[in-house]
Amino acid sequence: MSQALIDQARKVMENNDRGTYTVPTHGLYPFQWNWDSALSALGFSHFNMERAWVEVETLMAHQWVDGMVPHIIFHEPDDGYFPGPDVWQTGRVVPTTGITQPAVVGFALRKLYDRAEDKAAARVRLAKLLPKVHAWHQWFYRNRDPNGTGLVAIIHPWESGRDNSVDWDEGLDAVPIEGVAPFTRRDTTHANPDHRPSDEQYKCYIWLVEYFRGLGWDNAKLHDASPFCLVDPGFNGILIRSCDQVADLAEILCDTSIASEAREMAANGRAALESLWNPALGQYTCYNRAAGRLQDTPTIGGLLAAIADVPHGRADALARRIALLGERCGYLVPSHDPADGAFDSLRYWRGPTWLIVNYLIAEGLSRSGQREMAQRILADSLKLIQKSGFAEYYDPMSGEPCGGSSFTWTAAMVIEILKTKRVPA
Ligand code: DGY
Repeated sequence: MSQALIDQARKVMENNDRGTYTVPTHGLYPFQWNWDSALSALGFSHFNMERAWVEVETLMAHQWVDGMVPHIIFHEPDDGYFPGPDVWQTGRVVPTTGITQPAVVGFALRKLYDRAEDKAAARVRLAKLLPKVHAWHQWFYRNRDPNGTGLVAIIHPWESGRDNSVDWDEGLDAVPIEGVAPFTRRDTTHANPDHRPSDEQYKCYIWLVEYFRGLGWDNAKLHDASPFCLVDPGFNGILIRSCDQVADLAEILCDTSIASEAREMAANGRAALESLWNPALGQYTCYNRAAGRLQDTPTIGGLLAAIADVPHGRADALARRIALLGERCGYLVPSHDPADGAFDSLRYWRGPTWLIVNYLIAEGLSRSGQREMAQRILADSLKLIQKSGFAEYYDPMSGEPCGGSSFTWTAAMVIEILKTKRVPA
């Protein structure tokens, strides 16, 4: 059974492979997405290590001079996606968007290096990649934490990767949508509109893009100028873990300067993460930096923080919180608490279960002493695949497939889980 699933997953990845990068899925997402790519590299690493490195190298080749790694690289023109390069207007030779995404690359690189058979060759590749990844992390703390709190903010919901999460509702209320240029969505021609963000949310997304474009995509200005400025525990958790992995890899390369700087960034971030602990919920929650308020939104963003090697007591509380969610749904981990009024089992990040987040949470929990819950999350992930194939995401109540199909990172996670986590399929 396991091998049959791995073979199917590999086929999905190969069909979405464009040679030097993968598209998340045909039609809905026809370009290279930042964190999709980094996580896809993990899948590739089990059957084509060369291709895994190339995936990350292609992404990092499009880093901006200021250090940012953009969220989409528009390698080939494709009218089937909106908003395309004509809307972003970032002035790059190969067009990109002007915002970023969760910093999973450092985390992925550590796994690639550990799995490489030819360590000397891997170190040559790492020596080129690591300074770039470190520069991206420095960019984060310089531009998205200008007051040195230890936590970075996102300035657009798309940066979080959890586009329409309930976490962003309050922040988006502060986005004035008047004057946004008329546009036609394309996503709803590829996927069921009931599974996608609302038109109102899209107006906010596009307003923010137009606003940042008007500021010349100058990252020195965007954080303070943005009416939307949210601190996401999951986003920070990923960055913290990636800083730690960059420090580990820098030690392997004997680069003491990167190692000590990255280690300090991780330590500061991990200490600051505690300010997002929400005792009433027993999980981390988002901080609305624009409004100066810790939110009460019970989303998966606060569970994803487990990836940061949080203290064992916190991991224990997160596992208990996930167990409670498990009583309220069929398949862990729902992206929003089913007991909350805003829960929507079908709509993207307002309820559905996602394999990539499951994997990252399980990875963090098992390192922090919660192996049993980690295994349960991974077992549910495989049940979803067996029931509904390689979908973008799943209804956590029924397990029905949602969003796009034949999805690259879902397939990558299946290979990763089956090859590394000893979960029976
Ligand atoms: C989309 O277009 O839906 C993407 O999630 C933006 O990154």
